[in-house]
Amino acid sequence: MIPFAHYEESAAALRDRIGSFRPEVLMVLGSGLGYMGDLVEDPIIVPYQEIPHFKVSTAPGHKGQLVFGTLSGKRVAVMQGRMHHYEGYSYEEIGFPVRVMKLLGCPCMIVTNAAGGVNLDFQVGDIMLISDHLKIFLESPLRGPNLEEFGTRFPDMSFLYTPVLQEVARQSARELGQTLREGVYMYWPGPQFETPAEVRLARTLGADAVGMSTVPEAIVAGHCGMEVLGFTLVSNMAAGVLPQPLSGEEVNAAAEAAREKFSKLILACLGKL
Ligand code: HPA
Repeated sequence: MIPFAHYEESAAALRDRIGSFRPEVLMVLGSGLGYMGDLVEDPIIVPYQEIPHFKVSTAPGHKGQLVFGTLSGKRVAVMQGRMHHYEGYSYEEIGFPVRVMKLLGCPCMIVTNAAGGVNLDFQVGDIMLISDHLKIFLESPLRGPNLEEFGTRFPDMSFLYTPVLQEVARQSARELGQTLREGVYMYWPGPQFETPAEVRLARTLGADAVGMSTVPEAIVAGHCGMEVLGFTLVSNMAAGVLPQPLSGEEVNAAAEAAREKFSKLILACLGKL
């Protein structure tokens, strides 16, 4: 279990780099959107290797650095590259950077991912506002001794995806003339894609999309009282929906293709936070 001192040591090392800069929004960007870190004005870039106790992300297209600066007039910390359970990290390790940002005074997280569409009304390229999630039968990132410094032992998850931020997203999409889907994101650990039977199970349980990230970070953020806004890019229809196999290349291509639309929406939301 990670002791509180490790979080403090990481935060202290980052304070040495960023001075009195206090991020207002942590951005955890999934496949295809990492480039948004390159749009940050007056950036201070800190590679994960230079931060004590930080892990390095190994997924393709994930740079592995934090970018502090200004985006849409907000002070942001952009994680270019996140950790996944399938890379070998524990859920606790995946949540580590979120808690460090909390110690730096950051009150809010925007989290994005690419995922498989389970809802048959969805199409590849759709953006879904995450209204809730499903993560069943798997270990919690909060497992182990509770760190009271961050939050309570049994945190409420009723309003994890902050309702007023969801409204900001709806309004931003309306103003941009974009269609915004809404739904439940179901977490699967991967790295194998789900089977068609698992996708049918997910649909029966009320999932609209399936993916391999986001939920560990969201739980940790909710536990320490951060507001959360989450978006999913439907990068493919989930297994079994179409008569064709899935591939990581297809996911990346769809994420690239949607990049402009997706980043416009996120910048618009940021401006309104
Ligand atoms: N399943 C799980 N994760 C994913 C998918 C999927 O279909 N597409 C992109 N990430």
